[in-house]
Amino acid sequence: MKNEKLLFLETFGCQMNVSDSEKIISMLEGIGYKQTETPSCADMIILNTCCIRAKAEQKLFSYLGKLKGLKKQNKRLIIGLGGCIAQQEGARLLGRFPYLDMVFGTHNLFSVPEMVRAAEKGFRMANVDFLDNEARLDLFPQSEDNGSAARFVTIMQGCDNYCTYCIVPYVRGREISRRSAEIIDEVRQLVDKGVKEITLIGQNVNSYGLKTPGEIDFATLLHKVAAIDGIKRLRFTTSHPKDISESLIACFAELPKLCGHIHLPAQSGSDAVLARMERGYTRSQYLEKVALLKAARPGILITGDMIVGFPGESEDDFQQTLSMMEEVDYTDLFSFVFSVRAETKAAGFPDDLPYPVKLERLNRLQSLQKQVTLKHNKRFAGTLQEVLIEGKSKRGDQLFGRTDGNRMVHCTADHSLVGSLMNLRIVKALQNSLLGELP
Ligand code: SAH
Ligand code: SF4
Ligand code: F3S
Repeated sequence: MKNEKLLFLETFGCQMNVSDSEKIISMLEGIGYKQTETPSCADMIILNTCCIRAKAEQKLFSYLGKLKGLKKQNKRLIIGLGGCIAQQEGARLLGRFPYLDMVFGTHNLFSVPEMVRAAEKGFRMANVDFLDNEARLDLFPQSEDNGSAARFVTIMQGCDNYCTYCIVPYVRGREISRRSAEIIDEVRQLVDKGVKEITLIGQNVNSYGLKTPGEIDFATLLHKVAAIDGIKRLRFTTSHPKDISESLIACFAELPKLCGHIHLPAQSGSDAVLARMERGYTRSQYLEKVALLKAARPGILITGDMIVGFPGESEDDFQQTLSMMEEVDYTDLFSFVFSVRAETKAAGFPDDLPYPVKLERLNRLQSLQKQVTLKHNKRFAGTLQEVLIEGKSKRGDQLFGRTDGNRMVHCTADHSLVGSLMNLRIVKALQNSLLGELP
């Protein structure tokens, strides 16, 4: 019998899930599992799930169906489900999928090793209890070094904003800020191990600390993290436009290590739609923040998210979104057709816009953005860019990395450069990335 057990883990969804998956891997390495890229070789398969839109859910359920065959071939295979669908559906999943062994929710990462041990003995179980705030802070696993040069560090969990379309507050629970002393310790430990770039993550990092008496605010946290010896680059995501303070904007002028990129989802350019989404800002307030950011850090790259076809969106509302996109001049934009999430307020809004109209709007928006993104990428052709080389590219034998402004760069270079900050000459602008060369 082999003594090393193989784990196949697949992550769906946002940066929170990516970071949680890294923590699951570290914890399971501690009890004898090693990662594999091949599900058919695995002793355990874990899917870390997302339910932000209906499509994400459908994909997961069809994927789960395929795993049934693997379980037939290997009766000892353990199959686990974590993340937001697991949180939402809980123990019901064990009934619906008899070949599933364990289900763990978004507050229960710490219990995964224990659940795995029980599953190895043949028990099937679900643990999706929401914890109260103190327990969440105490039990939340740290990010351990895994050899990567760029890492996420969680600074808050959950969300209290209840945007009317969004499932996140229901599956991640109430917003809570981690203790700043622990965040700073974690960053220091990672940087001491050679990590060069840290991205502070949460669903709404701008409101960090505001609800915790005695805690520092987000701008102060950025200053403290940027001052850590050895840190080369600092980023954060995701920002909520309503909570961007003057002192946060000033960080872009004051902190050279803070990279020149911000992801600032607007969701719509129409005041009427923004009000129904309960986003807490107007189009002109959003644009004002964008102007202040551009003044604080000339050349800052701005990316965002947009929802198309929100209930009641008129052609005029949609035109407002397109015109706002032109005004902001997004380097990149993630755009989605509104998807009804049962628990949310918007699920009860009258929506008579036919789906093909929504899809046609999405296509118009995306083709406009495609041109703008390519225009931005072309601006970089011929320039020298500092790139943190992060690893092997998915296609071919190239390496990939990111510029200060978070543009993806592919280059052909020796593998020994992974983990280094290099000045690369950008030789070609592609639609979604840049091609770089060592000068
Ligand atoms: N906390 C982040 C967003 C997290 S969800 C923020 O507030 O910006 C990521 C993106 O998914 C959102 O920005 C939104 O554009 C999209 N999204 C969320 N719920 C959606 C829904 N019901 N239908 C379509 N897109 C949705
Ligand atoms: Fe969802 Fe709004 Fe919270 Fe973002 S801020 S996670 S969109 S509820
Ligand atoms: Fe998806 Fe959960 Fe993130 S629903 S977007 S993985 S918080």
